[in-house]
Amino acid sequence: MNTLELARKRCSIRQYSPAPVEGEKLGYILEVARLAPSACNYQPWRLLVVVSQDGRKKLHDAVYAREWIKPAPLFIVVCGDHARSWKRPADGKDHLDVDAGIIAEHICLAATEQGLGTCIICHFDAPFVAGAFNLPGTVEPVAIIPIGYPADPGLFAATAKIRKSVEEIIFAF
Ligand SMILES: Cc1cc2nc3c(=O)[nH]c(=O)nc-3n(C[C@H](O)[C@H](O)[C@H](O)COP(=O)(O)O)c2cc1C
Repeated sequence: MNTLELARKRCSIRQYSPAPVEGEKLGYILEVARLAPSACNYQPWRLLVVVSQDGRKKLHDAVYAREWIKPAPLFIVVCGDHARSWKRPADGKDHLDVDAGIIAEHICLAATEQGLGTCIICHFDAPFVAGAFNLPGTVEPVAIIPIGYPADPGLFAATAKIRKSVEEIIFAF
């Protein structure tokens, strides 16, 4: 699968089989994640890898009214440490979210390549997650990613990609 094929295949999966994710596949995903670029190469991310029933229940409670996440056997919570993220000298902009977004997509693409479904979730109670997992004060949970086999492999192709055209997203000079 080339990059274009992978980008076309990745989509938000919202129906999961409870079948566990093999350790080998999780290892592959984490290796791809680890290689993500970051501002100044500060690598400010921390990944919560959640497979236990107790940990998954905490995440169920943190995500707003989304029953569909419950069967997912694995979650990676992408967190960033504000004490380790790059701040742009010109204006102080904290690049934690940029770095977190990049590693999140590395995770999703690697999982997709392995036949696993993902969905980046940001609509959740971040302070609740920080407290439930005893995160240090400078560490912010940015996105929750359920990972698991789609309930039906056809889900990868079930929804058309609705995207703006290239002409709409570029400023040409
Ligand atoms: C930063 C970000 C936050 C998102 N938050 C949520 C969310 O809270 N709940 C959800 O169901 N989907 C969420 N999504 C998934 C988007 O709705 C989805 O990526 C978008 O509609 C495009 O669809 P596709 O992923 O199937 O290509 C999020 C995606 C991104 C990139």
